[in-house]
Amino acid sequence: MAYKNISLETKNKIAYLTINRPDKLNALNTETFNELYDAFKKINDDAQVIGVILTGSGEKAFVAGADITELAVQTPVTAKEFALRSEVVLCFIERMSKPVIAAVNGFALGGGCELSMACHMRIASESAKFGQPEVNLGLIAGNGGTQRLPRLVGKGRAIELLCTGDMISADEAFRIGLANRVVKKEELIPACEKILNTIASKAPIAVKLTLEAVQSGMEMTLAEGLNFEANLFGLVFSSEDMKEGTKAFMEKRKPNFQGK
Ligand code: COA
Repeated sequence: MAYKNISLETKNKIAYLTINRPDKLNALNTETFNELYDAFKKINDDAQVIGVILTGSGEKAFVAGADITELAVQTPVTAKEFALRSEVVLCFIERMSKPVIAAVNGFALGGGCELSMACHMRIASESAKFGQPEVNLGLIAGNGGTQRLPRLVGKGRAIELLCTGDMISADEAFRIGLANRVVKKEELIPACEKILNTIASKAPIAVKLTLEAVQSGMEMTLAEGLNFEANLFGLVFSSEDMKEGTKAFMEKRKPNFQGK
């Protein structure tokens, strides 16, 4: 698939995925969602890639929301279909078997905030702004905002953001747990690269199972989640890396993980 609205580049085993509609503040139209889905599937299947950095092009925005010109003409039926189709993409991102970091370089509003929340982590530059302004348009969040935001920041803060439509700063996003950390603009991509490289130095199967345990566990009761974790904990004992990791500790040397 040739991309018109995004770009994908792999360097030093990191996939750099950039939403590339800067004149529209990287607003997400249907075509962009389709391209993102295609790109994330490709990245997930590429054994050479250790992780993804998702960002927006231009100086101003990560993503300023779903494309309002497309939303304005939806009917109740097509709007529901739009929400369900985009949710397939966001759920795929959430279930990626390698870490996905949203490098939030500016406005992350509406669908942009929701897209960032589907990523495993959000690193924000000082100029980033987060918000769910759908109520200003007579809409409600339709890409998982009413579900993922309370899970990340708690019900009270989520309701405040979703019902006031207020934009918050990167520092405030950090304070409430929406952003993992805030860095200077020029440190945004290096900070994401550093996290991905740290994760890549760990046992790959353990990382993959951890992502699965956290993601699936969030959708279970505590008892079910603990049982699921115990099953994956048992499973990891079948890996050579587990034997290598524990042996290396006892031999006081660095482990040499093979992803097996
Ligand atoms: N959908 C479609 N186009 C969008 C957009 C969106 N979500 N957000 C911004 N754009 C477009 C603008 O229409 C404008 O296009 P134009 O130059 O052809 O008129 C361009 O991007 C630049 O935006 P502009 O509003 O001029 O920039 P600004 O710096 O004055 O304001 C924002 C920035 C983010 C505050 C403002 O663009 C905005 O409120 N966007 C909508 C945010 C939103 O409600 N998102 C949720 C959608 S459900």
